[in-house]
Amino acid sequence: MTYNVAEIRNQFPILTQKVYKKPLIYLDNAATTQKPDVVIQSLETYYSKYNANIHRGVHFLSSHCTDATESARKTVQKFINAAHPHEIIFTRGTTEAINLVAKTFGQIELKKGDKVLVTRMEHHSNIVPWQMACEQYGAELCVVEIDKQGTIDLNSYEKALNENVKIAAFTHISNTLGTINDVKKMVEMAHSQDIPVLIDGAQAIQHTHVDVQDLDADFYVFSGHKVYAPTGIGVLYGKEKWLEKLPPWEGGGEMIDRVSFEKTTYNTLPFKFEAGTPNYIGAIALGVALDYIQNIGIDSIKAHEEELLRYATERISEINDLEIIGTAEHKSSVLSFIVKNIHPYDIGVLLDKTGIAVRTGNHCTQPLHDWYNISGTVRASFAMYNTKSEIDYFIEKLDFVLNMLQ
Ligand code: ALA
Repeated sequence: MTYNVAEIRNQFPILTQKVYKKPLIYLDNAATTQKPDVVIQSLETYYSKYNANIHRGVHFLSSHCTDATESARKTVQKFINAAHPHEIIFTRGTTEAINLVAKTFGQIELKKGDKVLVTRMEHHSNIVPWQMACEQYGAELCVVEIDKQGTIDLNSYEKALNENVKIAAFTHISNTLGTINDVKKMVEMAHSQDIPVLIDGAQAIQHTHVDVQDLDADFYVFSGHKVYAPTGIGVLYGKEKWLEKLPPWEGGGEMIDRVSFEKTTYNTLPFKFEAGTPNYIGAIALGVALDYIQNIGIDSIKAHEEELLRYATERISEINDLEIIGTAEHKSSVLSFIVKNIHPYDIGVLLDKTGIAVRTGNHCTQPLHDWYNISGTVRASFAMYNTKSEIDYFIEKLDFVLNMLQ
């Protein structure tokens, strides 16, 4: 089947919007993706026809929502090839999933003198929760450096993996540089020292095939809203052995087995980590989004986005005084850049007036920006529905904006 981008675009109602009377060119997909009709329809259908709290009622609506939520869990399981549905924990998103692991893992595994390994290119969400756990338990946060292209130095990584390291946490794809890390190799290297790993998949799940068993990841996390699903829903995948071992982190609701004032016992997986009423309608819509992607084919999406990135990189390189930040050999869907003597914010604001949405700033990766000695970049990030003609329009307007500012 050929990849029909026009047909895909027709399924995303927001893409026909005009901003400032100009067609919307949405190039901020690393921040959040737009939603197809089927996902919007799913939210509408569940709120208008089926809504009732899950795992609590014997009545028709409650049973229907419970079944649909558990079926969505199985969809996620298949999508990332987890061994069991109970290895899929629904969270609010990537950030909450990492916080869950950092807090509970810290509680049982970290003590004074231990180390947690992260990399220079991590999003704040994969730094701060570990920093908090390290502070709490007297452990140390260690950083693996990158080279100028934005590639992790695997020799330094290997050297850093010593017996004091209790966990290594790294991103699959950098939200700022676009670097695709060789996570399979990084997992293998950590495991050869018996060190478990957490992979931040927030920027990967929508662009590339993820198989958690093949990667042998101990934990893999991602957000729904970056994979064409709603906000407020995300996933923590954890190997059964780890999820069994970790203590619960929030108390109340579905995570209990039996409560008395003297002692509470906890529910089995996955419910042990799902306190309170979960965002079940979001989880159902996440299942719909993943089915939607499966129907198009993640490999076809990947090929389309690779071509967009190649084309955009070629076209943007024609512009004088512009430097791309992140030039690793293996990259995905993200093009960050700076222009000599011009503030990224000014470029973003003026592009906006032409209908183009890009992100400017430090993209929640301040330590990475410090390393490059820059305060921010302009970032264009692509998704399955972007086109080469949008890139042409973007380059034309960027050129225009830069001429105004120079
Ligand atoms: N983490 C998101 C981004 O990179 C918000 O824009």
